[in-house]
Amino acid sequence: MFKKEVYSDRRNRLKKELKSGIALFPGNVDVAFNYPANQYHFRQDSHFLYFFGLDHPGFAGVIDVDNDKDYIFGNDFDIEDIIWMGVQPKVADMAAEVGIPNTAPMNDLTAFIADAMKSGRKIHFLPPYRGETVIQLSQLLNISNDEVKNSASADLIKGVVKLKEIKDEYEIAEIEKAVDIAYLMHTTAMKMAMPGVVEQEIAGTIEGISLALGGPVSFPIILSMDGQTLHNHNHGNTLVEGRMMVTDAGSETQLHYSSDITRTVPVGGKFNPRQAEIYQIVLDANVKAIEAIKPGVPYRDIHFLAARVIVDGLKQAGLMKGDTEAAVAAGAHTLFMPHGLGHMMGMDVHDMEGLGEDYVGYDETVSRSDQFGTAYLRLAKALKPGFVLTVEPGIYFIPALIDKFRNEGKFTDFINYDKVETYKDFGGIRIEDDVLVTETGNRVLGKPIPKTIEEVERTMTEPREWVKKEGFI
Ligand code: GLY
Ligand code: MN
Ligand code: MN
Repeated sequence: MFKKEVYSDRRNRLKKELKSGIALFPGNVDVAFNYPANQYHFRQDSHFLYFFGLDHPGFAGVIDVDNDKDYIFGNDFDIEDIIWMGVQPKVADMAAEVGIPNTAPMNDLTAFIADAMKSGRKIHFLPPYRGETVIQLSQLLNISNDEVKNSASADLIKGVVKLKEIKDEYEIAEIEKAVDIAYLMHTTAMKMAMPGVVEQEIAGTIEGISLALGGPVSFPIILSMDGQTLHNHNHGNTLVEGRMMVTDAGSETQLHYSSDITRTVPVGGKFNPRQAEIYQIVLDANVKAIEAIKPGVPYRDIHFLAARVIVDGLKQAGLMKGDTEAAVAAGAHTLFMPHGLGHMMGMDVHDMEGLGEDYVGYDETVSRSDQFGTAYLRLAKALKPGFVLTVEPGIYFIPALIDKFRNEGKFTDFINYDKVETYKDFGGIRIEDDVLVTETGNRVLGKPIPKTIEEVERTMTEPREWVKKEGFI
């Protein structure tokens, strides 16, 4: 946990944003896995963690803006709980650690909210993403489940985004820890990417590194030779020479801050000329996009900068043709990169995405494109110091998309379909880093993870001495 002033300061700043009413933050509860007593590992709600810090199931936090008071509602453990779980701190002691003197049993929350509603006070809450929370809010507010989903407070969402999008020094340090764990996950994956190895062996090993050094992975690991499938969670292939392996994986620290890193490597450790050519284009897009990151620049401009680098490179490779600007304006690049350049990152790996991407990545100066591919851009607005975001360009050869665009006669001025057909067995390449926007530019977070062709090839052939050498274990 951070020191208690961090949490009281966040709550006080939220009060200034909200101006009136009550902000209700239901914490998460334990959720059954395959029968009631066998539960998923507990994951606290990220917004609750941000304002209340307590990583325990079954709590709710309340910020009473009108009376400038904060509350934790939750039940103390009884002797039965203690027998199974060991001695547990009292709710009041835990709340004191995050600067809250006011606590009450969970049952009192119903009357507290009912009284506030009777006095005509606004109850602000964020969009829930778990069924249990929808039911809890429905009961507390006396509205249907559907009404709960449609009644989240836009004022609270905007206030939370305004605070959380700027990461403070403590949060940045946590994210860097998460990237350093990802360094070990990715360099290990590189060293294991040899012919005959099954993808699952690598995915399982690097998930174990995350668990051993921090917490769970920050999202289900994407690891496959079939990297053309953007979120490929199937790890059943046996690696073969001549293919590339995409690994998109990150870790959560104990305070639940994330990393989200992608590397793509040639199975066996040596890029062949065709792989090297496409890889270098994606790397150039990654590096040039990062160079362009600074306050004031709309991230959508950087997305299009990366798209132009990709089109220029694919023209050199004979896969595209024509005027680069015109190709990007028409959206021809989306055959190869049908996704956005990146997203905010924090406790949630797609930070605050549950609040609505348009609240997080867009504002009154920039609205979402309706062009195929570009519409997936999660972050488009102007950058500010303190933003942490991902930069993740890619080039993919997706046979079904190539067939679709070709059959529809799309972008024939810009795409050399006959040559593209010969890449249908290629797979995909993505290179992703986590970047902080600073006052003057940017900083790539964490220990640099090999990404040039030379660095990747060297890393893949070095022995796995790293564990001791890097001082992690
Ligand atoms: N890990 C999914 C993504 O890169 O956004
Ligand atoms: Mn990723
Ligand atoms: Mn990402």
